Amino acid sequence: MKAERSHYVCEECGEASVQWLGRCPACGSFGTMREERKETPRSESSGTRAEPLLLSSVEEEGPRIVTGIGELDRVLGGGVVPASLVLLGGEPGIGKSTLLLQAAAALTGRGARVMLVSGEESAAQIGTRARRTGALDPGLYLLCETDLGAVLEAARQLAPQVMIIDSIQTMRSPELDSSPGGVNQLRECVSRMQSLAKEIDAAVFLVGHVTKEGMLAGPRTVEHMVDCVLYFEGERFDSLRILRAVKNRFGSVSELGIFEMTGQGLREVEDPSHLFADSREEAVSGTATVVIMEGRRPLLVEVQALVVPSHLPTPKRVSTGMDHRRLAIDVAVLERKARIRLSDRDVYVGICGGLKVSEPALDLGVCMAIASSRLDRTISPEMVFLGEVSLTGEVRPVSRVGERAREASRLGYKSLMLSDKSKPQAKHPGLELVQVRDVGRALERLGMA
Ligand code: TYD
Ligand code: MG
Repeated sequence: MKAERSHYVCEECGEASVQWLGRCPACGSFGTMREERKETPRSESSGTRAEPLLLSSVEEEGPRIVTGIGELDRVLGGGVVPASLVLLGGEPGIGKSTLLLQAAAALTGRGARVMLVSGEESAAQIGTRARRTGALDPGLYLLCETDLGAVLEAARQLAPQVMIIDSIQTMRSPELDSSPGGVNQLRECVSRMQSLAKEIDAAVFLVGHVTKEGMLAGPRTVEHMVDCVLYFEGERFDSLRILRAVKNRFGSVSELGIFEMTGQGLREVEDPSHLFADSREEAVSGTATVVIMEGRRPLLVEVQALVVPSHLPTPKRVSTGMDHRRLAIDVAVLERKARIRLSDRDVYVGICGGLKVSEPALDLGVCMAIASSRLDRTISPEMVFLGEVSLTGEVRPVSRVGERAREASRLGYKSLMLSDKSKPQAKHPGLELVQVRDVGRALERLGMA
């Protein structure tokens, strides 16, 4: 590993270097490289004995603590696990404090002892928010403190089952000289919380602010130390919020929690399908609807494409919410296999509602949206697309067609275009299946070839 040989570590991003540098080569911050002494063990044996045990003799994990906020429980894998650490990351202002305050109140309401530690806001501010969101449970404990030692002491006294630290960047251990929020302080804070969680058998939520660029801010450097990493995302000016797990020792990482930020705090969105696809009566060129799977949940999303004449020697291919390499492939396939001329056009493609989709099932919809914009021909808003497009232009089957088709039918879509090799098991009322072999034939069926 790189860090083994090096002696200087950036407090911002954790980049290691063998020599001191005024500016961190990774994140560009100035004056953040600090020396880190490597301790060399004196001898092989530490004097303590360790006993291996038989795996079969280990008991199962204790019961989970259900928060009562369904979308949060779903992402956690069915509630929080005692003696574990959950990191909740997200941009400032996205709603992390609100989510955890609501969770704290819901947990307290279900009889759990919960301690909320805030290093960012005053008790009065939190009280106001609690009243506003209806999260003012009389049994909820609050501590406004930034001193790590004091927080640990209070936690030992109260022995809460769930503890929330908002945020880890504000906590400081006076034993370390470095500034709060720096990598050393973060690591210290997380490792002390780790021991505490085990000691008092509490589930600990740690809030960590992450900047737009994502990578640089501190919390990334402690992801490996926690059991579960959740990210809370959304467009700042849009009310939709998405909670996703990027790491979970106790559950799946493919589940999504969807919330809406309202005047009274976060509201769970249990039936989110309609949110990402504008239900419009009239067709608009450059749009196509796709059914994606987010975890076990089918979601209808709208793909929007804009194709305009380019004045650049290398035309632009810009994507938001999908992989740009896949976009480049889809464009190349359209050009070569379906004779849609794009080499002199800029192509912009976006996924509606701020979602990030990495499923190949998106391909067919992307290709159709691009062709629709390029030819200025509309696609019926009652049609949905499903299919991976291969380099040969072939439309390939995708997984879980049945569930996706059922969702499209439930929401009133009239036809589904998919691969001719897909074998949907059941019929779905009112949903006509249009099976195509390749992109060229897909365009033919839409009257675009
Ligand atoms: P907050 O939870 O403080 O964000 P974070 O902890 O991630 O920094 O949420 C802040 C934003 O949420 C703020 O811009 C106001 C908005 N908000 C509402 O719209 N409704 C509400 O009921 C609350 C409490 C906040
Ligand atoms: Mg906050």
